[in-house]
Amino acid sequence: MKVSVTVNGTAYERDVEPRMLLAYFIRESLGLTGTHVGCDSWRCGCCVVVLDGDRAVKSCTMFAVQADGHEITTVEGLEQGGKLHPLQQAFWDCHGLQCGYCTPGMLMTSYALLKHNAKPTEPEIREAISGNLCRCTGYQNIVKSVQQAAAAEVG
Ligand code: FES
Ligand code: FES
Repeated sequence: MKVSVTVNGTAYERDVEPRMLLAYFIRESLGLTGTHVGCDSWRCGCCVVVLDGDRAVKSCTMFAVQADGHEITTVEGLEQGGKLHPLQQAFWDCHGLQCGYCTPGMLMTSYALLKHNAKPTEPEIREAISGNLCRCTGYQNIVKSVQQAAAAEVG
């Protein structure tokens, strides 16, 4: 089946098997390997991408064909003109990552959160990332990172 999507501002058209998951479409058909696959079964959140500008979706829970006609933002789309997105900068500054495996999903989930709520409270941040598992950081510095990014966006 044909799939037409815009990913990080670039239009792509590909023929895919109907059963192909969006996560594998992004990684294997488009070569954007920043989107990680951890559990393949909706639990870990490291495959999160943003659909149509503000909707965080676990890309292992969607078929590629369901994304037809939509806009997708992946972690590769955050940096602009060689400058890190405020969220990426904040994760760097606040040590919001260790191994980094969960980080693309954390970034994209947080990106969608800040689109809906520019000044989230700590409980709101924790609620937003509750579907994203991190086995390294204990979450504290991830929360701090999102808080710093929110402050940077406003300030
Ligand atoms: S790979 Fe999608 S939720 Fe784990
Ligand atoms: S930084 Fe290692 S899983 Fe989150």
